[in-house]
Amino acid sequence: MSSLVACKISRYLSRIVLLVGLLLAAQVQAQNRWYDQADIDKGATLYKQNCAACHGPNGEGTADWKKTDANGNYPPPPLNGTAHTWHHSKKLLRSTISEGGARLGGLMPGFKGKLTDEEIDAVIAFFQSKWPDEVYANWAGRNTGNGIPPIANPEDNSAPETAADTTRMTQMLKSRLGSSRFSEPVESPVNGIFMTRFGSNYGYLTEDGRYLFIGNLIDLQQGKNLTDISRRRTAIDEINAIAAADKIIFPAIGAEKAVLNVFTDTSCPYCKQLHSEISFLQQAGISVHYLPYPRGGRQGPGYQVLRQVWCAEDRARALTIAKDLDSGELPPGDCASAAFVDAGYALGNRIGVTGTPSLYKSNGENIEGYVPYRELIQKVLND
Ligand code: HEC
Repeated sequence: MSSLVACKISRYLSRIVLLVGLLLAAQVQAQNRWYDQADIDKGATLYKQNCAACHGPNGEGTADWKKTDANGNYPPPPLNGTAHTWHHSKKLLRSTISEGGARLGGLMPGFKGKLTDEEIDAVIAFFQSKWPDEVYANWAGRNTGNGIPPIANPEDNSAPETAADTTRMTQMLKSRLGSSRFSEPVESPVNGIFMTRFGSNYGYLTEDGRYLFIGNLIDLQQGKNLTDISRRRTAIDEINAIAAADKIIFPAIGAEKAVLNVFTDTSCPYCKQLHSEISFLQQAGISVHYLPYPRGGRQGPGYQVLRQVWCAEDRARALTIAKDLDSGELPPGDCASAAFVDAGYALGNRIGVTGTPSLYKSNGENIEGYVPYRELIQKVLND
């Protein structure tokens, strides 16, 4: 982790907790619908009085319920089985109705004190009575513990809406972390656990949005760090999204066998060392794509020089000059393309660069710090 051959930046480096197990309480539900007609009738009246104004007379909700309004709030979603309400256990439905959405930054009012527990259950019975059998079966299956099987429905294989409901998780993250610092949660390989990204860290969330842990998810059976696989994929996607014109490319000599992306800082001795050996990489069929990473950002020792390099007509030569490996003049660093130095720094921070040189193979694998060229060629050409 602390490499002797990289120039480290001083900002703190968060490191990560490995969470080995996570246990979710399973909900036990009855095999057939848990309510009867009397519950539905009672619920219908209460629903009309308390819920219909927002969620529609029959739980149809708002057509565009997945889109937030100008204030970042979600409109009332359908409760009739066409949306994601069936993803929630009865316990979670009860608490949503009694607590409301305000504590999560939402608009749904809480009904605690207004409706008794039995009345809340009756309202749930009412809107669940609008759910088609397969939706109800899916809800029951999802929320079944202790081996109680979901209702089988062999005739109908049409899957209901399966896209995950990330509304609540997003609201929880937003209420704790502000609005733009995390990515939209996506399903992880673990049932009921969702993944979100904060800069270069990955978090795993329970579906109710209540619990979050930050760390690495390991598949012990396959011996794979699943978080690292996500991290690599994100890193290389972001790097590949950069236009070639913004990079400084030292192309392979002869047939290109591999591309190596290198975040570099002209003020870092290890970057100079690596650059002095670059022709060996090129001769081995490796194209080196340089990206700027001024350690310390605008205050960093290499910031101005990197801007000058990115302003040069012949950037490859300018980079070599800036690394004291050639002589010549650098242009002033006040041109438009100098802005890419900030972009490179931001990109590096997003994908987890913490020092220079930081090398990324085309599969997203990261090599931190200087590696002598013979060894480096091996590492880059052999997966
Ligand atoms: C003032 C409008 C309003 C009223 C009244 C209201 N809701 Fe909501 N409800 C919302 C909004 C908006 C959301 C989306 C989450 C949020 O913003 O809190 C929501 C979310 C929900 C959810 C979560 C749905 C999901 O798929 O995640 C349930 C369940 C729900 N409401 C049930 C009810 C019930 C039952 C009542 C009546 C007892 C009710 N709501 C009354 C506006 C309302």
